[in-house]
Amino acid sequence: MVAISLPRLASRIDALARFGALPGGGVTRPCWSAPHEEARAWLLGELRRTGLETWVDPAGNVFGATGIQAFRPEIPVVLTGSHIDTVPEGGILDGALGVLAGLECLQVINETRTPHARPLAVAAWSDEEGRYGSLFGSRAFCGLLDSARIDEMMSVDGVRLVDAMAGAGFDARRASEARAPDGAVTAYVELHIEQGPRLEEAGVPIGVVEAIVGVRRSRVVFRGQADHAGTTPMDRRRDAFLAAADYALRVREHVVTRGSGVSVTNFGVVHVHPGASNIVPGSTELVHEMRDPDPGVLERLAGECAALAREVAAAHRVESELRLVSATTPALCSARVQSATERVCATLGLRCQRLYSAAGHDAQNLTRVTDAGMIFIPSQGGRSHRVDEMSDWPAIERGANALLHTMLALADA
Ligand code: GLV
Ligand code: MN
Ligand code: MN
Repeated sequence: MVAISLPRLASRIDALARFGALPGGGVTRPCWSAPHEEARAWLLGELRRTGLETWVDPAGNVFGATGIQAFRPEIPVVLTGSHIDTVPEGGILDGALGVLAGLECLQVINETRTPHARPLAVAAWSDEEGRYGSLFGSRAFCGLLDSARIDEMMSVDGVRLVDAMAGAGFDARRASEARAPDGAVTAYVELHIEQGPRLEEAGVPIGVVEAIVGVRRSRVVFRGQADHAGTTPMDRRRDAFLAAADYALRVREHVVTRGSGVSVTNFGVVHVHPGASNIVPGSTELVHEMRDPDPGVLERLAGECAALAREVAAAHRVESELRLVSATTPALCSARVQSATERVCATLGLRCQRLYSAAGHDAQNLTRVTDAGMIFIPSQGGRSHRVDEMSDWPAIERGANALLHTMLALADA
């Protein structure tokens, strides 16, 4: 039976990890940055050397394919992929695994001349991590990009998407031209590390993803009064940071006690202004994230948190402002892709279990245009979005083989 080459896949994972490598391990490779663009050039070279057709679309998505030179509805393709951008101080597998395993699958299929009725392609989607906009490249590919918002899209440190893309040689205002023609993709399946502890703790090597969470991010600003931190009596202060801190604690309590049971929330960005130890904070900005697989729960929690922000602001005698900055839609994976992977696991002698994804993925956009699904492998200690994110090499080999045979099954269906 045709199988992937782990040494070749492992050497490519190591090679890609050089771009944006950090001295103590892990990588920082935000989309459109110099290390990301070097990684893109390296990836294009690997795809070409493998004999694949390659192209980059106006949203910066990279493709390698066998049997097509562009997406056309007359010859629908089985697509895999993931992303080569990373979070700051991230690991070497989040995204890289799915892209490089996809390349390895196409290479092995070509080398062994394994028959397949449909063309096959691999994608590296741009800005999956959402530095400028959540799941940006796959959103453009699936026709879900709101072009009117391109000019206002920016990172939390104030870099505009149009400038970041221009620096990498792309015109952000043309990104929506990346939309693929309807019917051009017959199925999409993405291999990814689980990024949480469930598979490892259950001792199950393969996860078959049935749903993917939605993620809502809001910018919440509390505005109080900057004052002398020594001379202003404590009861006269209108401290914007304390209001923000109170809000964060109350939101956490609310989401844990009133969410669905799997709802989560995070405050990963806090800016205090003017930001000096001898000034009472005049304003504080938070980026508030919430996730749940149920769109109704997410919507309800968002409304309740907006009310909490107003309540907290009144209690601290400050003003509050809340603005939604991004929202991805929770998605259900395709039954066809899930059962294809389950049949493959039975043939390969691999135990598998269905689970929902608590992380966001490009596959959730792909569910809007085709049969899309995901395959997970266990993450060591459930760790991800940190420099010591890893999976065992045998686990990576099992996952890549599950991907290979799922693609072949979908290509013959
Ligand atoms: C993507 O990695 C996410 O934040 O879920
Ligand atoms: Mn990822
Ligand atoms: Mn990630």
